[in-house]
Amino acid sequence: MAKHTGFVGCSIVVLSLLFAATEATKYNVGGSFGWNIPPNQTFYSEWASSKTFVVGDSLVFNLTENQNFADVTMADYNNCSTKTNPYAGTVFMVDLLHPGPRYFITTVDDHCERGQKFSINVEGSFSSGTSASARPPSINSVPILSCGVLSAILSTIAVCFFNRV
Ligand SMILES: *[C@@H]1O[C@H](CO)[C@@H](O)[C@H](O)[C@H]1NC(C)=O
Ligand SMILES: *[C@@H]1O[C@H](CO)[C@@H](O)[C@H](O)[C@H]1NC(C)=O
Ligand SMILES: *[C@@H]1O[C@H](CO)[C@@H](O)[C@H](O)[C@H]1NC(C)=O
Repeated sequence: MAKHTGFVGCSIVVLSLLFAATEATKYNVGGSFGWNIPPNQTFYSEWASSKTFVVGDSLVFNLTENQNFADVTMADYNNCSTKTNPYAGTVFMVDLLHPGPRYFITTVDDHCERGQKFSINVEGSFSSGTSASARPPSINSVPILSCGVLSAILSTIAVCFFNRV
């Protein structure tokens, strides 16, 4: 019975992910302007607030030379500081796999202070009746950066498979 319940739970997660995958949107950060020193301090917050981000969507940072971005905490976002290494040198896709706030800044010179930073709130695609703890922790092990929703689906299917063996 427990196995049966687990399988149903997994199936729901797989279906939810598949649904999220079909609905997923890839957002080029900054639109056609890209990720650069903005014309004013509110450029990126205006860009972000014009969108609704949901679980399964992705942010694409198309980094030109000398650009970078860091995935930071609210405190670091507010302070334009980070202890983690920024991502640089290529195109990065950040998959938004979990509901909740996310914060991104650049660490180049004073560009963050000049407004090259933004925060978003990722909205969950699970029904409001489903609590966060009802989701299996296996999804958390999927790398946040440069790994697609497809791998989330595949790893979830794999976990379901192993759970049944
Ligand atoms: C910031 O710059 C963008 C792009 O030029 C513009 O659309 C927006 O109105 C500006 N915001 C402010 C507060 O000046
Ligand atoms: C990234 O930007 C460059 C220069 O604007 C462009 O040629 C390239 O197609 C972009 N790549 C992606 C994946 O958007
Ligand atoms: C804020 O940034 C300054 C300068 O980088 C740093 O000295 C300070 O420790 C930071 N504060 C927090 C709370 O991270």
